[in-house]
Amino acid sequence: MEKKINQMEPWLDEKERQAVDSYLQSGGWLTEFKKTAEFEQAIADYTGAKYCSVVVNGTVSLAAAIMALGISGDDEVIVPDYTMIASANAVVLAGAKPVLVDINPNHLGLDLEAARNAITKKTRAIMLVAINGRCPQVEAFAALAKEKNLFLIEDAAQALGSSFASKHLGTFGAVGSFSFSAPKIITTGQGGALVTDDHDLYQKILKIKDFGRERSGVDRHVSMGFNFKFTDLQAVIGLEQMKKLSWRAQRKKEMFSKYQELLVGVSQVRFVPTNLQDTSPWFIDILVPAQKRQALVDFLAADGIGSRTFYPALHTQEPYRDAAGSFPGALEISESGLWLPSSSFLTDEDIDRVCGRIQTFFNA
Ligand SMILES: Cc1ncc(COP(=O)(O)O)c(C=O)c1O
Repeated sequence: MEKKINQMEPWLDEKERQAVDSYLQSGGWLTEFKKTAEFEQAIADYTGAKYCSVVVNGTVSLAAAIMALGISGDDEVIVPDYTMIASANAVVLAGAKPVLVDINPNHLGLDLEAARNAITKKTRAIMLVAINGRCPQVEAFAALAKEKNLFLIEDAAQALGSSFASKHLGTFGAVGSFSFSAPKIITTGQGGALVTDDHDLYQKILKIKDFGRERSGVDRHVSMGFNFKFTDLQAVIGLEQMKKLSWRAQRKKEMFSKYQELLVGVSQVRFVPTNLQDTSPWFIDILVPAQKRQALVDFLAADGIGSRTFYPALHTQEPYRDAAGSFPGALEISESGLWLPSSSFLTDEDIDRVCGRIQTFFNA
């Protein structure tokens, strides 16, 4: 069998190894300190946000953002029915109520009109998820949030390197959240970041992640807080990964174009409309007839090619079975979507091979 191609792999090399080695030689205490601050600054600089705070992962970052915004109890947060389940679970973790709303299959994000119709007296925030770095309606959502006096929380876990009209995603709302889990465009193993331009909100986030301490290292607690802190050991890896981000974002665009070119003749494969000037697709996503998807997964796997089916619509999952509403967009997308091999180190030859197998599957 030919070389195995995983759907996704983290990419670490000599640079990360050297950075960890020299950090350990320096006698650092591993825990969050100067390297974490440097990493936060690198993210703020890259995204154009005023403030950045990193935490343990991209689920906790969303929960910390909701807590910092003072959303809890009966307060409702609008969340798309099609997203990684962490978006909704973070609302629950923060002690508030996620309200699931259908998506627009044209960009896989929240449907604007459905979100507008779901706003009640209890709604406090809209969580806008930029699925695969696409968020063409982010300005319309920011305007809706303003009109209805709601917070816009951007779950940009999949959107580092992606923007709208030259402004980085995650910086349109009250707060934006990123994830550095292993399959993301850059990784620190686990990790999450919050960005905001709001100084007060930033100060609240710092307290929430550090036991509610008045300031770091002082055991005086001025608010409820937990331990959501990062580590310098991860930050040294994150700093090296950040240096590679621009190149990777560009490569993701090239890869997406190449997949599109090679599959253009396969009528049963569709691509989600994607503006590659804005979007650096973290994953290569395609839509195929739902009844053929598993057979395609198996066909590729037999040739050592990994793929992954889209997330299920959240209302079909046990914790959200009681969700009210109808979700035809989320259902259609979750049943027909497939992620193809997407690691940024894939060669053009790897992509040729994957597309060749897909052509054979559909055209044979
Ligand atoms: C849209 C979205 N939100 C939140 C998360 C959660 O991030 P983490 O795995 O870092 O907790 C993910 C992770 O894939 C995600 O894709």
